[in-house]
Order: sequence, then C-alpha cells, then structure tokens
Amino acid sequence: MAPKNPLLVDCDTGIDDALALLYLLGDPDLDLRAVTSVFGNTSAEAAAMNTLRVLELAGRPDVPVAVGADSSTRGTARFAPHVHGADGLGDTTLPAPAGAPSATPAAELIVRLAREHPGRLDLLALGPLTNLAAALRLDPELPRRVRQVTIMGGAIHHPGNVTPAAEANIDNDPESARLVLRAGWDVTLVPLDVTMTELLTERHRHRLAACGTPAARFAAGILRHYLDFYESTVFSRRVAACHDPLAAAIAAGDVSPVLAPAVAVDVDTGDGPGRGMTIADTRGQYRGFPAQDAAPVCVVLRTDGTFPDRLVERLSGATAASHDVA
Ligand code: BDR
Ligand code: CA
Repeated sequence: MAPKNPLLVDCDTGIDDALALLYLLGDPDLDLRAVTSVFGNTSAEAAAMNTLRVLELAGRPDVPVAVGADSSTRGTARFAPHVHGADGLGDTTLPAPAGAPSATPAAELIVRLAREHPGRLDLLALGPLTNLAAALRLDPELPRRVRQVTIMGGAIHHPGNVTPAAEANIDNDPESARLVLRAGWDVTLVPLDVTMTELLTERHRHRLAACGTPAARFAAGILRHYLDFYESTVFSRRVAACHDPLAAAIAAGDVSPVLAPAVAVDVDTGDGPGRGMTIADTRGQYRGFPAQDAAPVCVVLRTDGTFPDRLVERLSGATAASHDVA
C-alpha cells in the first residue's frame, strides 16, 4: 500500500476535536506530523494542553503540538464552555500532560511542514481558520505546496449553530475563513449540513464505556457531556452531532461523500445578521452542478449517516496508554 500523505491537524480541542484525534490515531498507517491549536472551544493554550492530553492518552506523545492564534483577525475570542465543559474536555479532568507545546508558533509550523513536504502535506482544520490565514500571509505560495485542505465549518442549506446563519468555526473569524476558502487550494468543506446528520447516540456511549481501554472510556466520558448538551439544547433527544470526527474521516479518505459538488464559496464578513454565513453557489443543483471556475470548493452536502458506528468501532479498538479517567 502507498504511504499515506503527511497530515497536520489544526484544532481547538474541544470534545469533538478530541474524538477526531482519537479516530485518526486509531489508524496505524496515518502519518500525523503535528497538531496546531487555535482559540475556539477554549483558549489556544488550553486547546494545546488538551491536545497533548489526548495524544498521550493514545500513546503518541511524540507528535509535536504548537500553540496558535488566541483571537480572531479582529481580536475577538469567544469560548464554548457550555458545550465542551470548563476544561474543554467535558470536565473529565484528565491529568496534566507530561509534555509541553513546541516553541514554534502554529502558523510557522504549518509553513515549515508544507515546505518540507512539497505537494504532499494534507491540512485538516477543525477550528476557526485564523492559523491557516496567518500561514497564508507568511507564505503566499502555500496553496501550491499543500496537497489538500479539509475544513469542518459552515452551513450551506442548514441553519447556523451560533447565529441563525453562521456556524461556530466560521463565525469565530469570518475574515480568516474568507481568505482561506478563496486561496485557490484544493479545499473540501464539511459543513453542518452533514455533520448534523451523522449522529452519536447513547448506544454509542455505552459501547465505548463497556470497552474498558482508557481511550475508549475517556471517549465515553466526553461523549456523555456532549450528549447532555445536545439533548438539552438542540435535539430534545439523546443524540449528538459528529462534526470534527466526520471531517477527519473525510480527510483521511475513510468516508466518501454521497454528494459533494465543487462550487464557489464566499463568507459574509459584514456586521449584519449574516456575519459568518457561508454562501455557496449551489444554483446548479437541478442541473447536476455543472463545473464552476471561481475558487471552487468541494462542499460536502450529503453523507450516508453511518459514520458514527465506524467511529465507535475504531475507538473501541484503540489501544492506549497509561492514563485513566475517573
Ligand atoms: C465546530 O465548532 C466547535 O465547537 C466544534 O469543535 C466544531 O469544530 C462545530 O460548529
Ligand atoms: Ca473543533
């Protein structure tokens, strides 16, 4: 089998970011080169510490973690403890990590790895796009150096989740999102249209809890918190969205979208009620999405809804490490 392309994950670790990392780390062939943190669910510093915790839990303390932007291009930052817990990991109180973040800032690490692996590096963005935008400013040639970019973010034909129009990752830094989506690289956008249809359930949590490995029990612990939030706030039944893990699986080539046209995507950066909205040109949907030239982004509009079973299967088989969760 051909070696997998090197991968850098940029995230705001967070419950679903942690599940995405555990999913990726469960693939022994995956070449995870680094994780960079960004503000969003928590501060960038806390996200880096959470990432180190997850990497150590999964037995991968060797993966470098770099701290990135602590606020948007406009200097704003709003965290989500009501969704992800005060610690960002569902208040599961994992011990402090043994390791520490690298001294290299996130954007510099992205540029460095892209130069070290010309045409081969894959980027997976699971938080606000501030670090990727900063990397584009550092190296305008970045779109030609990177193989593909997969982004969890946006809402195309679906309501937003932080405003009626905007999804959290895009809303946290619309200016950066606009820059990244229009940079001319090979982008796949995984919006709420699909992440809200791939649902984790109480049955999945039970299966993880029964598994007994520290990683699976940790996943069950953070999923409990996530299910509590989604049940009380979003669905009125005990299911939770599968945002970042689905984007990770699409980036890894494990999930093939049912419908993912290449269309132009823009972001509303105004100050009105549409701020942070992703506007995709899907007018060609009745003609089977004829080719579009302007900054096409592959927008995932439909998946088959079976991914959570595979996520839990992978996490139940995950080997890990020394830490345990009370
Ligand atoms: C996205 O926002 C964050 O809260 C999640 O981790 C996910 O990346 C969903 O809107
Ligand atoms: Ca995230």
